[in-house]
Amino acid sequence: MKRLDNKWALVTGSSRGIGRAIVKALAERGCNMVLHARTLAHLSSINAEITAMNVKTHCIAGELSTQAGIDAIIAGVKAGPGYVDILYNNAAVSNQSTPVFEFSAAEWLRTFQVNVFAMAQLCAAFGPSMRERGYGRIVNVTSGIAGQPDLAPYSASKAAVDKYTKDLAVEFKDSNVLVNHIDPGWIKTDLGGPNAWEEVSSVIPGMLVPVLLDDKGPSGRFYAAQDFKGL
Ligand SMILES: NC(=O)c1ccc[n+]([C@@H]2O[C@H](COP(=O)([O-])OP(=O)(O)OC[C@H]3O[C@@H](n4cnc5c(N)ncnc54)[C@H](OP(=O)(O)O)[C@@H]3O)[C@@H](O)[C@H]2O)c1
Repeated sequence: MKRLDNKWALVTGSSRGIGRAIVKALAERGCNMVLHARTLAHLSSINAEITAMNVKTHCIAGELSTQAGIDAIIAGVKAGPGYVDILYNNAAVSNQSTPVFEFSAAEWLRTFQVNVFAMAQLCAAFGPSMRERGYGRIVNVTSGIAGQPDLAPYSASKAAVDKYTKDLAVEFKDSNVLVNHIDPGWIKTDLGGPNAWEEVSSVIPGMLVPVLLDDKGPSGRFYAAQDFKGL
């Protein structure tokens, strides 16, 4: 099993759902974890769980729809390990199902702030120092959502995630900072809802694939976690 001992990973949205599964899978491989949620209280149970796995942890709270929240995450990493080797942009918000022309400007903005602007700022905060240290894995979580105008802000925000990921991969070409995007599948979480096709456990090992890539491996690629289900 490929190990991640002594590496530090930041997984946004560590407290529940897919982020929590990613955190546990990374910790099983020895990775130290910067845990993130909107409040520290949301992190207490996952922090206890992975501390028992003998990895170091550092907990940070930050609301991704605000600049203050993003700044708090960046400052929190600097005050903790000082850097991350792995940045997993997992946290996101979706929308209440709404007729496409009735979405408010505020809802469009909130969705893009959390799902796109925050992701881009975290990449900017941590990507350059990954290049300097000669190692980095950035994974942006996207979605296979299609043909659902009732969730248009969410869907459009994920299209922006895809485009940004490919552009960022070009920025880091010829470096060992690999930038990829991955769709977890339709998963039974608070965001995915109870009618989703798959259990949270099905996202592992797939969600680890873009983290475990060999040095100078593929970048700018799309992965589908369900392709690796059960492997
Ligand atoms: N579930 C699916 O079917 C599905 C399908 C395709 C793609 N995805 C993607 O997979 C990723 C994870 O989704 P999920 O289903 O695991 O979601 P989830 O169960 O709703 O969990 C969301 C996580 O993000 C954090 N978060 C939510 N809003 C935030 C905000 N405004 N600021 C900071 N943190 C915030 C939450 O922290 P708190 O504990 O503080 O709330 C929580 O840890 C997302 O990128 C999503 O778009 C999911």
